Order: sequence, then structure tokens, then C-alpha cells
Amino acid sequence: MKHEKSLALPIKNIIIENERVKTFVFEYDMDFAPGQFVMTWIPGYDEKPFGIVSRKKGEFMITVAAVGESTKALHSMSVGDMLGFRGPFGSTFSLPESGPIALIAGGYGMASLFNLAKEAREKKLDVHVFLGARNKNELLYLDWMKELGAELHLSTDDGSAGYKGFNVQVFEKEVGKQSFYKVYTVGPEIMEMKIAQICWKNNIPFEVSLERYMKCGFGICGSCSVDPKGWRMCVEGPVIDGEKLKQIKEFGKYHRTASGKIEHYSSAKK
Ligand SMILES: Cc1cc2nc3c(=O)[nH]c(=O)nc-3n(C[C@H](O)[C@H](O)[C@H](O)COP(=O)(O)OP(=O)(O)OC[C@H]3O[C@@H](n4cnc5c(N)ncnc54)[C@H](O)[C@@H]3O)c2cc1C
Ligand code: FES
Repeated sequence: MKHEKSLALPIKNIIIENERVKTFVFEYDMDFAPGQFVMTWIPGYDEKPFGIVSRKKGEFMITVAAVGESTKALHSMSVGDMLGFRGPFGSTFSLPESGPIALIAGGYGMASLFNLAKEAREKKLDVHVFLGARNKNELLYLDWMKELGAELHLSTDDGSAGYKGFNVQVFEKEVGKQSFYKVYTVGPEIMEMKIAQICWKNNIPFEVSLERYMKCGFGICGSCSVDPKGWRMCVEGPVIDGEKLKQIKEFGKYHRTASGKIEHYSSAKK
């Protein structure tokens, strides 16, 4: 269990990843494990969960897509502005003894997977990263992944980099060619569901990060509980292994909003 803390920190640096995503850098040695998140207080707005990323000791980052009121407010902040943090929280990814392993990320998913890739490379495991995005500008952390020595399999919706199509298709083809010891996926839930189905079918152990609406972040409000077991995704999750995932009936079908109302994913059967 990592030591949980509350602290306020100034933004040290801001990296513009693309039109919708920025990375905020902080000078602080965050004691976390891959897959964990931090509740981030955006003054005057709200407190929101983000995956923790760190490239070197003494520094951590959050990579944020501007999707709504709080994240847009965060995007308007400058170097030196203060943010509040509670955490780290949540369950963590676990590595096998040997590789190769596959990491499949969509959207900002690479944020929760970056330190898993880093740890795996430090243990000399072969790491295959299946990175998908709408276009080449939205492929996150490309240079950092190259530096780690990960094997990259890129895909974009518009074909501007790598395969024209989805990373799920690229991954499925690769599964036919080689055996992965373990698979990890973070991204839109429909993508995660497709990866889960491939892994279940091919008997490959895997872990997903399952995001649910989080308020307290440490298990007391019940906002992030999943049906039918009531597991809290801020404590028993967000990282869930493939066997346990079979018992989460809402996976790939629906999630709950801030008020607890069920909201179905558009392409999921009701
Ligand atoms: C464990 C975890 C890790 C995450 N890591 C990242 C990350 O690394 N980078 C990133 O850009 N985003 C991440 N998110 C999602 C991020 O928390 C939401 O995008 C953000 O809270 C949206 O807030 P908003 O006010 O801008 O948008 P809103 O308009 O309030 O919501 C936009 C979308 O974000 C979801 N959302 C809003 N508030 C929360 C909340 N408190 N908890 C969970 N989902 C919420 C909503 O359901 C909706 O789908 C993560 C979420 C979780 C649960
Ligand atoms: S966010 Fe409160 S129990 Fe998980």
C-alpha cells in the first residue's frame, strides 16, 4: 500500500501534447505504483481523478484531455498556478516474470500505462505497445516510448500514422503471430471490451483499468461501485484482472453518472 497524502503544488511545466491534451508537470516524489490515480483539486471547480505518470525521481505528471468544465479550467492554468492533490489511490498493475507483454491504449490511456511500460523495460521484458488515436498528432508519448525501447504498433482513424483503423485490429493480428504472457489495456470502455474478448478467447491473462465516476477516491461514498458485486473502482479497482472482470456485468455496457443514473454506452446492447 502506497502512502496516501494531501498536498498543494505549483505547476512546474506544461507540455502541449495536441489540441485536446496537455501534460502538467510537478516537482514532487510521488510514491505510487503503475495504474494508480491521484484526486486533483482544480481551485474554484472540482476535484477529479487522473492517472499518475513519472519519468524520473522527484517529478510526476498528469496528462489531461479537455472534455468538460473542470478539465477545460485546468487547461487554462499557467506555470506557477497551484493545484491540490490527494493520493495515490487504487489498485495496481502486476507484471509477469517474463515477456513479451502487450499494452493497448486509446485516448489518454497511455497515461495510466506509461509507468508499467517503464517498469517492464527496467526488468528487461519485451514490451509491445498498441497505440491508437484519431490522427498522428494525438498519439501520446511516442518519443518517450521509443526511448524506453518499446516495440510500437501504431494505428490512426485517418491513416496519418501506422495502420488505418483501430488498435484492436492490429492487436488481434499480432495475437495470431506471437504469444503474449500478459496484456494490459486502458482506453474507451468499448475498446477495452473488445480487447477483453480477444484475451478471453485466446486464454491470455490480462488487466484493464475500469474508470467510474469518482468523488471521494478512497472507498467511502460508493459512487464508483460496479454491478452486481458493488466493488469500488477507487479501492478494488481501477485495475481489474480478466477473471474478476467476468463478474462485472456492467463492463462494456453502462456506467453511472455523478447522480448515480445509469448511462449506456452508445454501441452497447441494453
Ligand atoms: C481512475 C481514473 C483515471 C483517470 N485518468 C485520466 C487521465 O489520466 N487523463 C484524463 O484526461 N482523464 C482521466 N480520467 C477521466 C477524468 O477524470 C475526467 O475526464 C474528468 O473528471 C472530466 O471532468 P470535467 O469536469 O472536465 O468533465 P465533465 O463534463 O464533468 O465529464 C466529462 C466526462 O468525464 C467523466 N467524469 C467527470 N467527472 C468524473 C469523475 N469525478 N470521475 C470519473 N469520471 C468523471 C464523466 O462521466 C464524463 O464522461 C480518469 C478517470 C478515472 C476514474
Ligand atoms: S469514489 Fe467514493 S467510493 Fe469510490
